[in-house]
Amino acid sequence: MRAVTWQGRHDIRVDTVPDPEIVNPRDAILKVTSTAICGSDLHLYDGYIPGMRAGDIVGHEFMGEVVEVGSKSTLKKGDRVIVPFTISCGQCFFCERQQFSACDNSNPSETSDASELLMGHPMAAAFGYAHLTGGYAGGQAEYVRVPYSDVGPLVVPDHLSDDQVLFLTDILPTGWQAAINADIEPGDTVAVWGVGPVGLFAVQSALLMGAERVIAIDHFPARLKLARDLGAEILDYTQVDIREALDEMTGGIGPDAVIDCVGMESHGFTPDNILDQIKVSTFMATDRIHALRQAILACRKGGRVSIPGVYGGFADAFPIGQLMEKGLTVKSGQTNVQKYTAELLARIEAGEIDTTFLISHHAPLEDAAEMYRHWHDEQNNYTKIVLKPDLPKGEIKQIQEVEYADA
Ligand SMILES: NC(=O)c1ccc[n+]([C@@H]2O[C@H](COP(=O)([O-])OP(=O)(O)OC[C@H]3O[C@@H](n4cnc5c(N)ncnc54)[C@H](O)[C@@H]3O)[C@@H](O)[C@H]2O)c1
Ligand SMILES: [Zn+2]
Ligand SMILES: [Zn+2]
Repeated sequence: MRAVTWQGRHDIRVDTVPDPEIVNPRDAILKVTSTAICGSDLHLYDGYIPGMRAGDIVGHEFMGEVVEVGSKSTLKKGDRVIVPFTISCGQCFFCERQQFSACDNSNPSETSDASELLMGHPMAAAFGYAHLTGGYAGGQAEYVRVPYSDVGPLVVPDHLSDDQVLFLTDILPTGWQAAINADIEPGDTVAVWGVGPVGLFAVQSALLMGAERVIAIDHFPARLKLARDLGAEILDYTQVDIREALDEMTGGIGPDAVIDCVGMESHGFTPDNILDQIKVSTFMATDRIHALRQAILACRKGGRVSIPGVYGGFADAFPIGQLMEKGLTVKSGQTNVQKYTAELLARIEAGEIDTTFLISHHAPLEDAAEMYRHWHDEQNNYTKIVLKPDLPKGEIKQIQEVEYADA
């Protein structure tokens, strides 16, 4: 089959690789119909995630049709399913508490031992995301093996298109969990750093949960415009001083909750970010936390800090004093996707949630290397790319014109 493989930093290729096979009775094999590129894939692309090996099949946002099942799978051939990016057994201490992204069984000891060394405890497994998290082949491929297929996948009705349900695999529940972790109360003002796909869904979720005002912060006009269309007020950090602007907008108090949807690759030419760049490139730190620093400083006293953005390890100049003195509450984590999929599917079916507005491109799986380049270099124009294994090479479709002149 054809699959998207990681070969090294900024080197993505589409290769012919062996077809996946059923390994365990609970497995299923999926024929992939749609698979998206995520902001998390950029961290792999940029070489920031340890434990990648040349030839690894990437991709953790995918859906498709079941073509083969193991004897203990609860799926049937022909089922159309979305698959959470987190691989979870459904039976361990963590899965029983619906902390699926902390599953203790999905990451085999050969690979989880290294993550235990780094994190203090072994990390759960994820699709297409390095050998620290199990080294499972990802879903940017024609076919993919889905372990624990009786736990993760959710059958989706035929009347909903792939574009309407694909993001149940990751970014929609991630935006949702980010808003839940912000403990939003009606009337709250919530500020969201980064309006990539995760931030946009966090904006949408925060508004659905009753936030009175959501303020979205980024520097890409097209992305800010999408946030404004959802109902957010917008701030371009290249145009205004963010903390001053937020203070002004909140009567000097600061937002009740702040959500960091940027993660480890914060942009911007501020002194702290430049210093972080130097530390990361000389292995003195692993993360550029400028956005998180700014969020903690901007948050009102006694407020909440939600961190869906991915971080890899150790950061320098973390504002621990500010966090403590202001009495902030922090919640974070890889998303417990399986906990939210059924509810979010129901909301999509009811027309309460639309997931299609952020898709800028459909592209053939064969053109993945070019699409990774665009996703990395042209984030203003490429707001979300969905790869389609059945599109012939070269047939790239722009789903929506990006308008940003008035953002
Ligand atoms: N917790 C989870 O389970 C989970 C799941 C999916 C993605 N993520 C993470 O969420 C983050 C966002 O994902 P995405 O797909 O939206 O990524 P993305 O790269 O498309 O979006 C990030 C956005 O942040 C903006 N940004 C960068 N620096 C900024 C700054 N200093 N201030 C404000 N905005 C800034 C960028 O312009 C960009 O629009 C990534 O770190 C990703 O790895 C986490
Ligand atoms: Zn993702
Ligand atoms: Zn488990």
